[in-house]
Amino acid sequence: MTTERLVTKLDHEGPISVLTIHRPDKLNALNRQVIAEITAAAEEVWHRPGVHVLVVTGAGDKSFVAGADIAEMRDMRLEDARAFARAGHAALDALEALPIPVIAAVNGFALGGGCELALACDFIYASEKAKFGQPEVKLGVIPGFGGTQRLLRRVGNAMARELVMTGAMIGAEEAHRIGLVNKVFAADQLMDAARATAKTIASMGPLAVAEAKKVMREGEGRLLKDANVLEIEGFAGCFETEDQKEGMQAFLERRSPSFGRA
Ligand code: COA
Repeated sequence: MTTERLVTKLDHEGPISVLTIHRPDKLNALNRQVIAEITAAAEEVWHRPGVHVLVVTGAGDKSFVAGADIAEMRDMRLEDARAFARAGHAALDALEALPIPVIAAVNGFALGGGCELALACDFIYASEKAKFGQPEVKLGVIPGFGGTQRLLRRVGNAMARELVMTGAMIGAEEAHRIGLVNKVFAADQLMDAARATAKTIASMGPLAVAEAKKVMREGEGRLLKDANVLEIEGFAGCFETEDQKEGMQAFLERRSPSFGRA
């Protein structure tokens, strides 16, 4: 099934793709259509040869994503809500499971589903205007797209509980301080910074980057001894690949490596 792209944009810029959530009049709120398009975009990026990093951002200068669409949710019954949460989880799982790094470039409000979308990315760069929060309790519900789970894995249990239970909104600097955001940039430099980091990653051994992501993702939540077994296997699995031969040979010959690109 093909999903028509009505409320997102997917631009391919050589090794980098940029997914923009595009409902600026509703601060890019996630309705069913946006969610379906995120899932479809993840699928497209997965199958497109030569894409090495995905950047996710929001249209306009005010909002990344201001949450799941409250107008769409207002009249949902229990079964509708379950299906909506499942679709949201499926979309964010699809992004998270991509074999390439995904960078969230948070340019404004990242509330509720917006914070959850950012959390499904490998790491977050933020504009100094960004605001983060899980305000669902103010609406009489809890986060439904991973906020109660991914947030605590990212910032720790106590901070996640405080954010989810108070519904508080925090600025970019506070988000940086608690480890939710990797770096904060002036608003007009955010996308350049995300693209620059994406290019750096895209110049690394692609099999190694994919393996690093896989091992870190799968190791999260496991006992250290079990997670370390994943690392041993992942490390060994890099050997006897063209990337490993080229990367090490290039170092020893004092030249830049030339990695094979899909
Ligand atoms: N769902 C649906 N529509 C939303 C939305 C959401 N999560 N967030 C914003 N919008 C819509 C508003 O209804 C408004 O639409 P309208 O112009 O047709 O009335 C438009 O986006 C602009 O939002 P507005 O509230 O006027 O902007 P603001 O600058 O005054 O406030 C926010 C910005 C982000 C503080 C405010 O929009 C807000 O609190 N949004 C909801 C955040 C939230 O609770 N998210 C979690 C949902 S589970």
